[in-house]
Amino acid sequence: MNKPSIFEPTAANISAASNILRSGGLVAFPTETVYGLGANAFDANAVAKIFIAKERPAFDPLIVHISDLADLERISPGRDTRVFELAKAFWPGPLTIIMAKSKNIPDIVTSGLPDVAVRMPSHNVALQLIKQTGFPIAAPSANKFGKLSPTTARHVMKQLTGVEMIIDGGACKVGVESTVIRLENDGFRILRYGAITEKMLTAITPKSQLTEGFDLPQASPGLMKSHYSPDKQLFIVGEHAIPSDTSRAAYVSFKPTEKSGFKMARSLSSNGELQEAAVGLFRVLHELEEADVDFIVVETVPENGIGIAIMDRLRKAAWRFQNPL
Ligand code: TXA
Ligand code: MG
Repeated sequence: MNKPSIFEPTAANISAASNILRSGGLVAFPTETVYGLGANAFDANAVAKIFIAKERPAFDPLIVHISDLADLERISPGRDTRVFELAKAFWPGPLTIIMAKSKNIPDIVTSGLPDVAVRMPSHNVALQLIKQTGFPIAAPSANKFGKLSPTTARHVMKQLTGVEMIIDGGACKVGVESTVIRLENDGFRILRYGAITEKMLTAITPKSQLTEGFDLPQASPGLMKSHYSPDKQLFIVGEHAIPSDTSRAAYVSFKPTEKSGFKMARSLSSNGELQEAAVGLFRVLHELEEADVDFIVVETVPENGIGIAIMDRLRKAAWRFQNPL
């Protein structure tokens, strides 16, 4: 199949992209977190193409993206007031809320689950595209299943063929995927960590206190132990045994440090700020995946705020090397 092409986010290109979506095609587009691979969320055949392009297992459900709270009426029959309180605080933004699905949403979107994941992204291009298309857009991250998430248009191009159009909205400002939460009777539960932290959420609505009878992998089938992985071995300092000869390895520090004995060194941030490190995470891993090094050694970052999401992604990226088949 032909390589997809990258397009500037002009009004004409966004309009061409919404025509592709309306006629059942796929478009890769920027969001503030990572690039998404979108299809009309109401069109089961279009959504099926996402699973094929990504080589994604059918049991892993998709997030539906909206541009307006009124879009919820066609997606979810629920009137949980907490959704509106959370939306007021965090939408548009990197928070995904799982809610009961209406029958307009085909089963393929939710992998047969009775609930659908919804978020309103804050990237202008994403919002314009959803508005112009006139449908909510189902979109996972625009990478091959299990591989590094894309935070630039070029990262999408590297992994995906068969996508007619990639809209270039620049480098993503958040850099890691949205926080995913589910609303239980007694409060929310975090299924995936992201930029919207537990502390930020509890300022709006209580957290679930139930600890028993909850199975995270079952609740969110996409939350596998191995994910977001580069094509090269990855080791975390202090957590994994690092090969002694690092002369052909890359070292990734949290903030700039002198490091000898490695072929290359990169830092996730220039100043030790976690938000900057989150933006650096997939960018640096993509760069090192392409560089002439044999393996990657990464330092840990402080596990608070978005640092929890960074370490979650790093451990998932390293998992398959520690647990070979
Ligand atoms: O930031 C993001 O969320 C990006 C951008 C493009 O919006 N999207 C993204 O999608 O990361 P994806 O498909 O790579 O991850 C979606 C996650 C998966 O872990 C999936 O299992 C979970 O959300 N999920 C989706 N629908 C769900 C549902 N109905 N119930 C439980 N978990 C769900
Ligand atoms: Mg993904």
